[in-house]
Amino acid sequence: MIAVNNDEQIFHLQTLNSSYVVQVSDAGHLLNLYYGQRLEHRDNLSILDHSYQVKLGSTTAYSSEDERYCLETRKQEVSTSGKGDYRESSLHLIYTDDGSSTSDFVFDRYELNSNKPCLDGLPQTHSPADGDQSLTIVLREKIKPVELHLHYTCFARQDVICRSMEIINLGSTPVVVDKACSMNLDLSSPAFDALHLTGKWIAEGQLQRHALYKGVFSIGSNRGVSSATHNPFMALAKPGCGEMTGDCYGFSLIYSGNHKITTEVSPYDQTRIMLGISDFDFRWSLAEGERFTCPEAVMTFSHQGLGKMSNNFHRIIKTHLIPQPWQNKARPIQANNWEATYFNFDEGKLMKLARKAKDLGVELFVLDDGWFSNRNDETSGLGNYVEDKKKLPGGLARISRKIRQQGLQFGLWVEPEMVSEDSDLFRQHPEWAVISPKRQPSLGRRQLLLDMSNPEVIDYLYQQLADVFRRAEVSYVKWDHNRNFSDVYSNHLPPGQQSGFYHRYVLGLYRLLFKLKETFGEVLFENCSSGGNRFDLGMTFFMPQTWTSDNTDAYERVAIQQGFSLLYPQCCMSAHVSGHPSHQMLRHTPIESRFNVSCFGLSGYQLDLTKLTTFEEKVIMKQIRFYKQHRTLLQQGDFYRLAIDGGNQQTAWIVVNDDKTEAVAGFFQGLQQANPTLKTLKLPMLNTDGLYQVTSREQFHNIRQFGDLVNEELPVNIKDRGILHGIVANRVLHPSKNETYTLYGDQLQHLGIPLKSQFTGTEMSEQVSHIGDFGTRLFHIRQLQ
Ligand code: DGJ
Repeated sequence: MIAVNNDEQIFHLQTLNSSYVVQVSDAGHLLNLYYGQRLEHRDNLSILDHSYQVKLGSTTAYSSEDERYCLETRKQEVSTSGKGDYRESSLHLIYTDDGSSTSDFVFDRYELNSNKPCLDGLPQTHSPADGDQSLTIVLREKIKPVELHLHYTCFARQDVICRSMEIINLGSTPVVVDKACSMNLDLSSPAFDALHLTGKWIAEGQLQRHALYKGVFSIGSNRGVSSATHNPFMALAKPGCGEMTGDCYGFSLIYSGNHKITTEVSPYDQTRIMLGISDFDFRWSLAEGERFTCPEAVMTFSHQGLGKMSNNFHRIIKTHLIPQPWQNKARPIQANNWEATYFNFDEGKLMKLARKAKDLGVELFVLDDGWFSNRNDETSGLGNYVEDKKKLPGGLARISRKIRQQGLQFGLWVEPEMVSEDSDLFRQHPEWAVISPKRQPSLGRRQLLLDMSNPEVIDYLYQQLADVFRRAEVSYVKWDHNRNFSDVYSNHLPPGQQSGFYHRYVLGLYRLLFKLKETFGEVLFENCSSGGNRFDLGMTFFMPQTWTSDNTDAYERVAIQQGFSLLYPQCCMSAHVSGHPSHQMLRHTPIESRFNVSCFGLSGYQLDLTKLTTFEEKVIMKQIRFYKQHRTLLQQGDFYRLAIDGGNQQTAWIVVNDDKTEAVAGFFQGLQQANPTLKTLKLPMLNTDGLYQVTSREQFHNIRQFGDLVNEELPVNIKDRGILHGIVANRVLHPSKNETYTLYGDQLQHLGIPLKSQFTGTEMSEQVSHIGDFGTRLFHIRQLQ
């Protein structure tokens, strides 16, 4: 709900559990009075204005009419420089009529709408359901003919508020946009921890948490893509805020290019946070009548810790961001040939893989990189998507048909935004590659970027892709992007527009994706950028799932998925079981652990299925059966991270259905402690009065785990490393200790699932569970009454 107190010039944006209150000051500036736990709406909200009513030394008064009013201490909705606010500002314009750069925006008018305004060319959240509203507040520059349109949308049920801004030049001389954040928020406290996700290839989504101190702290990307270096996400949490209790704010940007999130704690103990397109190498000139649209920022407040914050984000993403056809639709279990074959395959090998995949229960077969001509390694071929007739003599049409005849869906990998120097496309159109004039380009993965700011390139790509998708009758597309930007320059843009290249690239990409979305709405697109190098809400708008990381090692994946879960729901994260040892870590982890981790994402298999042992085959069949049986819950349930007391090598997650009658919890261990302590999994999200049955998923050990203690574990006598040992290890499913409990909701909330003792080096018995290094367990939880 958005309520307006016209007399006080106050706007109250109210969600189920939060309130956001802004007011027009006497001087006309738009100030934030409050953002936090929900307040009742009242006729007199001016009382919330807690600002200095005293002169402050060494400050600059906004005007001589009121020496107590200085912008340095005011909590502003848009911040500019030049009128006494010395903090970092969210907007910086240069007026070319006189070269000045002081701005002063004051309230002009507002408009309430039930539908959101369309942010031209940009992905954005879909309009809220009835009852929710959008508000546009128009600010005008005091002396220059420029307007700002600040858009606010309230998603009441999800406790989310979205903001964006448009800058409109109404004058006849150009205005240069030097910096334009989508939002600025000033909070009345200096005491926050910043939480953000940093990383690199095969180590994305690593959570950082640290206190903010006086001064500026910022994260962002100047790589051209949103990047694994810093995901466009930040939370500001009160120092004691945990998973289930405490106050925190979460912020993200619906954008896939260079971005920046800046915080500044001022000497007056206020904290400013700003999100937007990065000002790195960014300049945008607006001619008469032109507007610049900032991408949409998403923010949420939670009084119930980080868990609720994530839950709010997950809900808005699931219900108002990902493409509608996929919002509640089951995602298929896929087998991808990349780690099974890399570039080395032919139709025969693919069919063997596909047949085995089908036998195991897989639903979608994905043909990854290497299917088009001149593509036997990463050095060549990108740009021309014509089948390699040696590998696929019958082309895409035949392999796709044969795979579909097996009863599988067919999916295909493409990397459209790139070109190899050794490719027909580069030979025909060298001017389409991103290369700074007269320089030898620096390469990433031996490839160049295509100039996505050039409409001719977009048209070419659309034609190529539409043709390929139709020819292959794809149900699924994996859209890859494997290098960061360098040598940025477009042969298509005039010199004055080169500094907008990064953003124009993203707009070109979005133009292509909008077009494809229109034509291929039923196709499932998976976003990928060497894994999670462009995992953001902009791509998520077009592609409901992302290849979270090239790292599929079970242990590393826990940290990666745990980090990304701060913002993204599990139905956005693709997670596969791969071979062992892991191709990224050379680490051995149990196949059951690789699956259990993938269960908290979109599960699939990415290993040579034709070389499985009988043990692995049987285990995989059971895994797929389990995943299918609980797919709705696993993919769509509410996801929470669980706290484990003293469990610094342990992580736990749970997914819960809407009415909290069913859940699946996962327990993931890194290195096992020596003489391990007892652990419980507390489940504060269940119904207090419900009686629940907790059953561990039936899992199996490879008896090699027990070495020469195998005879302590098995009733029969087997010689360690003897022939029989090998046969049993490869064929026999040795079940792990079953755990079943019947407990009430309040017991599960406060005591938790009382996990069995782990192996302490003294005895093996029915009461001892052999979780071991990198071991994991899943528990199915069902309310009985
Ligand atoms: C990088 C991706 O992350 C991988 O999954 C794979 O698709 C390769 N590219 C193919 O080149």
